[in-house]
Amino acid sequence: MTSSKNLTHSQRLAERKGDHIELAAKARTTSVEVDTRFDYEPLFFTHPSAESTWESRFLGFDLDYPIWVSSMTGGTEHAKTINENLARLCGEFKLGMGLGSCRALLKDRSRLADFAVKRFLGSQPLFANIGVAQLQELVAGNSLAQVHELVKMTESDGLIVHINPLQEWFQPEGDRYTVTPLETLQRFLDSVNYPVIVKEVGQGMGPRSLKALLELPIAGIELGAFGGTNFTLLERLRGQEQLSREGFIHVGHTAREMVGHLNALPVRGKEFIISGGISSMLDGYNLMSRLKANAVIGMASAFLSPALGDYDTLKQFFLAQREALLTAKSLLTVKEDF
Ligand SMILES: Cc1cc2nc3c(=O)[nH]c(=O)nc-3n(C[C@H](O)[C@H](O)[C@H](O)COP(=O)(O)O)c2cc1C
Repeated sequence: MTSSKNLTHSQRLAERKGDHIELAAKARTTSVEVDTRFDYEPLFFTHPSAESTWESRFLGFDLDYPIWVSSMTGGTEHAKTINENLARLCGEFKLGMGLGSCRALLKDRSRLADFAVKRFLGSQPLFANIGVAQLQELVAGNSLAQVHELVKMTESDGLIVHINPLQEWFQPEGDRYTVTPLETLQRFLDSVNYPVIVKEVGQGMGPRSLKALLELPIAGIELGAFGGTNFTLLERLRGQEQLSREGFIHVGHTAREMVGHLNALPVRGKEFIISGGISSMLDGYNLMSRLKANAVIGMASAFLSPALGDYDTLKQFFLAQREALLTAKSLLTVKEDF
């Protein structure tokens, strides 16, 4: 193949035809490779334009696309750049964002600048983040006001609580739950007047836990499902290998499985962030369409490396995702069987 630069229209056409002949033998698929999740409906499709949006609502906020930047880092050297880039993206394209764990701010405000990104988001939703282990400690110390203060100082619209017992167990310096997360949440929620979302961090959760969460006065659940970033494995990689624990790395629930469980439960007006292993917008669109409740698509690690550099790299990454999502929406219908 030659570069198309500086060629006339007819030369480009001839070049393309040449490429087709050269590549046709390599471009064969077999029928088993078909993606059986969707009906493909080209008759109703137009390519999305730069202005196309998919207007959505999430927890009362207006979004231009049903996309959520899932909670990531804070309290490290790169955190400020990452959070500012992500927040700018959410402001420009009207998305929502969860901050990474704001634990560092409970005792010391010196890292507040890493999390102080609301100005980039404007009216788009920003949620602070804390672990249930910290809540357990604050409940015991009768100091829940510190969490409310954290939501206030980051100018967040609500709080995400992460539940991560396996990560804590694998982490050499990890916290231990001495009270169940359910009990901690119940006690915490008694004192809250802002929306709360509860999530896992990459292991997902099973039907009993989902049912218990749906019965709590929370606004929503973020799946944090198995199949993408796995913090249990990550902590194992940081620490010592311990054969007695190894098998726990692979326990959990995929987003697809969790959507199935949620569809069988009364969701009581809760809303959802479908996250954990959503590596393509086809996956996100598929699960969002199948969940019988309002949801947005959440991605963490996919946003991480584009967010580490300059804003334009992140923007280009997002624009490609946006185009894929809008194309999926207009071209594909999920099949009934699941
Ligand atoms: C670098 C990094 C840091 C993260 N930090 C947090 C955190 O502080 N709090 C939290 O609730 N989840 C955290 N997560 C978990 C994500 O929010 C998400 O649940 C998980 O990564 C699965 O999504 P993914 O497969 O799209 O990465 C983090 C993920 C990454 C990649």
